[in-house]
Amino acid sequence: MRLPLVTLTSLLAVIMHAQTPSCPDRVETLLARLTLEEKIGQLTQGVIHAPEHVEAALAEVRAGRYGSFILSAPPEIATTLRNQVQQAAVGQSRLGIPLVFGYDSIHGYRTTFPIPLGLAATWDIQLVEQGQAVAARESRAVGVDWIFAPMCDLARDPRWGRVAESFGEDPYLGAQLVAASVRGFQGDNPASPERAAATLKHFVGYSATTGGRDYNTTDITPFVLRNAHLPAFEAGIQAGALSVMSAFNAIDGIPAVTNRALLTGVLRDEWKFNGLVVSDWNSVAESITWGYAADRAEAARLSLLAGNDMDMMSGCYRETLAAQVAAGTVPLAAIDEAVRRVLRLKFKLGLFEAPLTDPAAAARSFALPDAPPLAREAAARSLVLLKNDGVLPLTPAAIRRIALIGPLADDATEMLGTWPGHGQPADVVTLAAGLRTHLGPAAQLTVLRGCDLLPSGPRTRALPDGSNVTDEDANHRAAVADENDFTQAIAAARSADVIIAAMGEPRGWSGENSSRAELSLTGRQPELLRALAATGKPLVVVVFSGRPLALTETAEKANALVQAWHPGLQGGPALAAVLCGDLAPTGRLPISFPRATGQVPVYYNHAMTGRPDMVDYRDLTRDPLYPFGFGLTYTTFTYGPVEILAATSRARATVTNTGTRAGEAVAQLYVRDVACSEGARPVQELRGWQRLTLAPGESRTVEFALTDETLGFVDRSGKHRLEAGEYRVWIAPHASTGTAAVYQRP
Ligand code: BGC
Repeated sequence: MRLPLVTLTSLLAVIMHAQTPSCPDRVETLLARLTLEEKIGQLTQGVIHAPEHVEAALAEVRAGRYGSFILSAPPEIATTLRNQVQQAAVGQSRLGIPLVFGYDSIHGYRTTFPIPLGLAATWDIQLVEQGQAVAARESRAVGVDWIFAPMCDLARDPRWGRVAESFGEDPYLGAQLVAASVRGFQGDNPASPERAAATLKHFVGYSATTGGRDYNTTDITPFVLRNAHLPAFEAGIQAGALSVMSAFNAIDGIPAVTNRALLTGVLRDEWKFNGLVVSDWNSVAESITWGYAADRAEAARLSLLAGNDMDMMSGCYRETLAAQVAAGTVPLAAIDEAVRRVLRLKFKLGLFEAPLTDPAAAARSFALPDAPPLAREAAARSLVLLKNDGVLPLTPAAIRRIALIGPLADDATEMLGTWPGHGQPADVVTLAAGLRTHLGPAAQLTVLRGCDLLPSGPRTRALPDGSNVTDEDANHRAAVADENDFTQAIAAARSADVIIAAMGEPRGWSGENSSRAELSLTGRQPELLRALAATGKPLVVVVFSGRPLALTETAEKANALVQAWHPGLQGGPALAAVLCGDLAPTGRLPISFPRATGQVPVYYNHAMTGRPDMVDYRDLTRDPLYPFGFGLTYTTFTYGPVEILAATSRARATVTNTGTRAGEAVAQLYVRDVACSEGARPVQELRGWQRLTLAPGESRTVEFALTDETLGFVDRSGKHRLEAGEYRVWIAPHASTGTAAVYQRP
């Protein structure tokens, strides 16, 4: 490794830091030595995606005009680029303050795990923590010190593409998985070379975007904000998250990045968060577009004074803050406080002690053998069996000829999902590859796409004058080829013992800026599905999507239906093991599946209404197709009546495996506060779950404590409260079933 050219000043600074062990002292010592311009530099974040970004940044880094970069360059060059700018910062800037490098490793860096919504379907806190620990290890090895995850936004509207990045529609499940992610990323010591800082994003309310359209305005009442949107953030803060990202949206007309009531009132004053708040990309400047700030100076001032410490990519802070301090409109103390938070993060990450990244670390980290099995386990446990008339598990004896049909049967890139870090298609094991290995040479596996995920656009050709005309010949040839693909797939299906259809939506249709108005299988897939079903052969449909699709027709046509999300590198082996019965499905839905797009939002934990039995549509029931918490497995369970143990404030029920296979039940505790002085509470709220592995015929009793947290709520002022009175309590396999017991809380 090439050592940095360390100037005398920065060497002295390093020695001084080494002699003063306490972090606050080191922060204050450094702060006292920074010029105003250098302080504002600490609050400024840029991006390094390619070598030319380094060239452009070096002089500014030497002048102390940057505090951080997003390191989105591919891993092959990321470490080198990082070390170049970092050397300029620690070796050639006046005080040698290291930069901190961030990136979105939201479901893995090199080992891509299932999308977060799929991870949530595992309902497995430990597995999520372990997966995020792998993401942190691989990120840090490349030089990503700071991970822009977990996303804590509550996913109530599946039209919004970013539901893929969420842990679903439940604040309690979300809070548990957010806390697990923070522990996974940061561990006990974020300075360790295998850990990184976590970022709770996007604070707050971004997911309530009207119409499910990304970046749209939101309309959130204070009571809903407190009880639905804030709990996952609070859990993340309690788990020790070192940073928070403010959101793109406005709340009650005030852009989140400039929202002092939330960024300072809730985050700092109520929750005592003393970490760093970074803006989202260019969102400081967007407070002007929102019609709130008048110009870039006001945008910077309002954001900083609201409590947003670092400016991601807008440039407003670096352009305008110094003059505003000189003019007395921005107090220097506000800048100092933000700089303290940046420096604290850098100390906590150990960047002063180890600013550079070993260029060989990434290769070592990417080769560690525990990552692929963990990604496989996560993928397997994320699968949710939504329907099964008995066709699954496939028994090798009963089937020799399988037709695996569909645009997602063998498409490696699509399996990576949205924002996949730097997962490589070459490392993906697709469903086709997974099945081939699993079944061995004896089985006949025919794999055909049948159709594309999206129709290809019309072919055009250029004329000599530079204009384009429709290329009728090419269009005709393409149409004939498409028709051939379709016909061949149906022919293969006809001569098979069983059809597995691999369908869904393109990964690029979920994630940021990827909202959908129609939650259907894309392109010609519905037509393909109908034709496959018309063959009369047993039909297993595997859906790969970043969100709940409206699968009513798919479920009608399928003999079995498996929700596979975008499962990451190891989806193929995971699916093969579950389809063939080596593993039983264990996933449960973290989000309701609608019957039709017009039904959304259709989340289970909506507030009570005055006419709860009259909320259907003329043309459709209010009930989702598959409710929150739902998921079948290869055995069946019954749940006995809920018994309240009033003396000890506990609830219990007996769960019995009524099938012929061992299996895993996920017993879920739901509560309703029947009368609440603060306002209508949800009809049901998840407040706990327990996993039970039961042998055939075995019964076991699950017991849940009815604690303050189980029954309480947060009032509009942010106080956690609990009232006496009547509560309903369910212990059930999902949100839409079971009979509640009554608990009278004295
Ligand atoms: C996204 C954030 C992300 C940031 C940096 C933004 O567009 O909203 O979630 O962390 O980019 O990549």
